[in-house]
Amino acid sequence: MFPCVGAEGTEDGQEPLSEGAAVEEPLLGLLDVLIIGLIACGLLYWFVFRKKKEPETVKQLKINNLPSMGRSNDPSFINKMKNSNRNVVVFYGSQTGTAEEFAGRLAKDALRYGMKGMVADPEECEMEELSSLATIENSLAIFCLATYGEGDPTDNSQEFYDWLQTGDADLSGVKYAIFGLGNKTYEHYNAMGIYVDKRLEELGGTRVYECGLGDDDANIEEDFVTWREKFWPAVCEQYGVESVGEDISMRQYSLTIHDEIEKEKVFSGETARLGSFRTQKPPYDTKNPYLAPVQVNRELHKGGDRSCMHIEFDITGSRLRYEAGDHVAVFPINDPEIVENIGKQLGVDLDQVMTLTNVDEEASKKHPFPCPTSYRTALSHYLDITHHPRTHVLKELADYANEKDSAFLKKMATASDEGKELYLSWIVADGRTILHVLEDLPSLKPPIDHLCELLPRLQARYYSISSSPKAYPNSIHITAVLIEWSTKTGRVRKGVATNWLKLKQPTNGIKPTVPIFVRKSQFRLPFKPSVPVMMIGPGTGFAPFRGFIQDRNAAREQGKPIGETVLYFGCRNKSEDYIYEDEITNYKENGTLSKVYEAFSRDQEKKIYVQNVLAQNQEEVWKLLESGAHIYVCGDARNMAPDVQRVIHDIIETQGNMDKDKASQYIKKLQNKGRYSCDVWS
Ligand SMILES: Cc1cc2nc3c(=O)[nH]c(=O)nc-3n(C[C@H](O)[C@H](O)[C@H](O)COP(=O)(O)OP(=O)(O)OC[C@H]3O[C@@H](n4cnc5c(N)ncnc54)[C@H](O)[C@@H]3O)c2cc1C
Ligand SMILES: NC(=O)c1ccc[n+]([C@@H]2O[C@H](COP(=O)([O-])OP(=O)(O)OC[C@H]3O[C@@H](n4cnc5c(N)ncnc54)[C@H](OP(=O)(O)O)[C@@H]3O)[C@@H](O)[C@H]2O)c1
Ligand SMILES: Cc1cc2nc3c(=O)[nH]c(=O)nc-3n(C[C@H](O)[C@H](O)[C@H](O)COP(=O)(O)O)c2cc1C
Ligand SMILES: *[C@@H]1O[C@H](CO)[C@@H](O)[C@H](O)[C@H]1NC(C)=O
Ligand SMILES: *[C@@H]1O[C@H](CO)[C@@H](O)[C@H](O)[C@H]1NC(C)=O
Ligand SMILES: *[C@@H]1O[C@H](CO)[C@@H](O)[C@H](O)[C@H]1NC(C)=O
Repeated sequence: MFPCVGAEGTEDGQEPLSEGAAVEEPLLGLLDVLIIGLIACGLLYWFVFRKKKEPETVKQLKINNLPSMGRSNDPSFINKMKNSNRNVVVFYGSQTGTAEEFAGRLAKDALRYGMKGMVADPEECEMEELSSLATIENSLAIFCLATYGEGDPTDNSQEFYDWLQTGDADLSGVKYAIFGLGNKTYEHYNAMGIYVDKRLEELGGTRVYECGLGDDDANIEEDFVTWREKFWPAVCEQYGVESVGEDISMRQYSLTIHDEIEKEKVFSGETARLGSFRTQKPPYDTKNPYLAPVQVNRELHKGGDRSCMHIEFDITGSRLRYEAGDHVAVFPINDPEIVENIGKQLGVDLDQVMTLTNVDEEASKKHPFPCPTSYRTALSHYLDITHHPRTHVLKELADYANEKDSAFLKKMATASDEGKELYLSWIVADGRTILHVLEDLPSLKPPIDHLCELLPRLQARYYSISSSPKAYPNSIHITAVLIEWSTKTGRVRKGVATNWLKLKQPTNGIKPTVPIFVRKSQFRLPFKPSVPVMMIGPGTGFAPFRGFIQDRNAAREQGKPIGETVLYFGCRNKSEDYIYEDEITNYKENGTLSKVYEAFSRDQEKKIYVQNVLAQNQEEVWKLLESGAHIYVCGDARNMAPDVQRVIHDIIETQGNMDKDKASQYIKKLQNKGRYSCDVWS
């Protein structure tokens, strides 16, 4: 998931795009403001869900009654802190769980210094109470805050952010520290962490330690660990406390085993509400996905050894709405063989039903994933068992291995150069998953409930919708390339969602179902179909453009005037992976597509990519731009999108007679006006 690679240069909303630019749309400052939010291509990927939470000491329990499923809903975090004797509160602003995880680890740390911590979701707290935090002796507020979009807060910290901006709270006596989470490749790097750090001070708060900035583009885990190693000594000094011993082994969740439990009370993969897969009720969203029947699942490649699927989800009667350019989220299930093998490695009964309950009764999240459930369901539906395990997971698991393996795991988890190198080679470069770690370190036998506590949540996968409701009001199409590769240790790794989708074949009138929901995006055609568009989408990057073309075709059939509609498509080999070739050819012949430029990278000696063809069409590209065209780029974020942007930058420089800075400003303005949009991923 990537942003559009932002061109450097100053933002200046006043200047025209270029001398004598004949741009069709008004260049108003107000419009700028409205549209600014629409561009950063990355901004689309919010609302995933949250991961795990909070700590303390615990013993294994074996009881038979069900724990309560409710969330504690007293919004007064001050009351909670007072009632449970805590003096440290760690708030998190998190979208995909990293900040939440860090918050949990900090709260856990507190115990080590004779303090008592609590994790809190700002969305569930009366944040105005912050001003009375100082009524608790030796209190400290820590914030782990991720930045999104254009330097925006996460959903769960939006209200807090609004309050900070408008509020004139008096925070004197309130001690705080911030760890920000960001990604250096974004223009507004760590904007949230930096803002809150500054703002709390303005309101009278006292910073106990300098704001930490984590960079997800490098190694955010390492940034966090490094910050935390200096942060706690600073706290010790200011609070007059000291470390009460190294690692107290602390479990965050307690285990309850259910030996006799009715089936209806056990989660079987629902994302949030028990039984939501049996009785489906709109509206559908991340907590309540729609079980969409797969009505078509066909191969798009004509040859070669790769596979690209065209899948159609039937949404008849679901009340799901979408527009061309939106994304659809798919909740996949892990490969049963991997789940089975983890069970075997640990010698456990995967069908055992259990509940993991947060030992912190005040925590807003009671369970790490929907419980009660079986280990098999947890490993299949709720836990990410195929990404590289994080260093803190390896560190905690180290306790369950023999001396040699334990030392090895611990070394990998240290922040030393040697440790980092070992992690990068043994885990990352060798492509080891948790199962591979268990297989290759046979002495490692963690209790399965502890493993379930440590692994992150399995995330939904997003796909650019490749249809338009104007052509297909009752179905949502996606175009997904099957992911498979081999690791250095000779193992075959398979993408979770794509390999699971591959099996979802309708047969004999039976349509297998897939849990989905639609996420609105900002990737939109211009409102008026008469505005020209240029679509650049090699490989699966063509997906949203299939929807765009259907949209323009529908407008055309209604007799509306249609602007130039130019497509740049690229693939490896015309005879193998030219997806939707027939459709593209037809649209070109009947005029819905005014021009189609193709780049077949492997059909000749020298590679030809879409941007090479763009470069050849300099004058036409410039003419389109100056006539108000919207540019769209979709597909690979890592190389293709930045390469394409560089070429467009060059074209603007040459054709528009501008220097580098001017050309960058020109691109920036296009972006701010929603005329240069990306839908890219890595
Ligand atoms: C907004 C958005 C839109 C998207 N649209 C589309 C779309 O239209 N079509 C589409 O096909 N995908 C799309 N994706 C990507 C999609 O969401 C999934 O990431 C993709 O299908 C892989 O999912 P998976 O579960 O099969 O693979 P995973 O199990 O998630 O595995 C993928 C991961 O494996 C690793 N990996 C993959 N190949 C290799 C390799 N050769 N060597 C080493 N490591 C490797 C990478 O870390 C990669 O992140 C989109 C993503 C986003 C965020
Ligand atoms: N993990 C990775 O390293 C990696 C790399 C690429 C894509 N991806 C991911 O794979 C998915 C896309 O796969 P796909 O099957 O649709 O694409 P694809 O078939 O791999 O590529 C489509 C076309 O784009 C070309 N291409 C490669 N690099 C390019 C660049 N820098 N600029 C322009 N064109 C370039 C390819 O050429 P050649 O292949 O002949 O060079 C091919 O002709 C996306 O999710 C993408 O993010 C991952
Ligand atoms: C769509 C998207 C937009 C992002 N925007 C920014 C940004 O504007 N500035 C920044 O510093 N980091 C940005 N990031 C990086 C995230 O803040 C970073 O990955 C963080 O670790 C996520 O934390 P979380 O897992 O708690 O949500 C963005 C990430 C994504 C996926
Ligand atoms: C942002 O962070 C992710 C990690 O989640 C990383 O893979 C990616 O490389 C970073 N983005 C860019 C544009 O490099
Ligand atoms: C491309 O396709 C042609 C025709 O099918 C084939 O002869 C050629 O070997 C292919 N090239 C590559 C690099 O796969
Ligand atoms: C053009 O061709 C496409 C693809 O075959 C078809 O769906 C569409 O209706 C045609 N459009 C017009 C205006 O004839």
